[in-house]
Amino acid sequence: MRIDVITLFPEFMAQSASLGVVGRAAERGLLDLHGWNPRDYAEGNYRRVDDRPFGGGPGMVMLIEPLRACLAAAKAADPTPAPVIYLSPQGKPLTQAKVRELAALPRMILLCGRYEGVDERFLAAEVTEEISIGDYVLSGGELGAAVIVDAVTRLQEGALNDAESAAQDSFEGPQGLLDCPHYSQPAQHEWGDVPDVLRSGNHAAIARWRRQQSLLRTWLRRPDLLDESQLSKADRKLLAE
Ligand code: ADE
Repeated sequence: MRIDVITLFPEFMAQSASLGVVGRAAERGLLDLHGWNPRDYAEGNYRRVDDRPFGGGPGMVMLIEPLRACLAAAKAADPTPAPVIYLSPQGKPLTQAKVRELAALPRMILLCGRYEGVDERFLAAEVTEEISIGDYVLSGGELGAAVIVDAVTRLQEGALNDAESAAQDSFEGPQGLLDCPHYSQPAQHEWGDVPDVLRSGNHAAIARWRRQQSLLRTWLRRPDLLDESQLSKADRKLLAE
């Protein structure tokens, strides 16, 4: 998948996408990430990308023209059509369902704002959708873009070593449940022992225990995710035990 990121800090994006699963996916050719800096498309000695807001008030607004030229260059670099996604706290909250939808695209363009925001006329003319990564305010869209890059990249075929591990993630099951707890060595520890069932070798019992833990965790921590009417009879029984 190709991802173009329009940002005043392309080096931040390059760094965050160079490590771990995402870095490996890029090495394997599963992610083709390109940073585009609006400052490179700004005119004049100062290469100005922002100015004061009309109507007064604090902060600066990103100017239309450098963004417009930058986006045009990003679009022209590849003929593959791509939605333009603006990261902002006013956007639709990002969910795993949305991540799956984006991960299936051949390409997307992420727009990161800084300062107080981006001139509304640019957003109205060029942006396909706005996405928020949560109900809090960041000082720019770069962290949100890094979140999207990570979440969609790990869903690319071949990005994860164990093909099973994406399917077992929180939110990835058919019911969108939280993940179960995980344990490794040592089996006995001063902070507690590994549940016996996980060491029993009984795969059916292990699967049942994990499912029950997922259900219980979701019920306790994120009841908003659990639509009990949608649960199977077997799941309802596990939850009631
Ligand atoms: N930019 C600033 N705050 C943001 C948020 N919560 N999500 C996405 N982009 C942002």
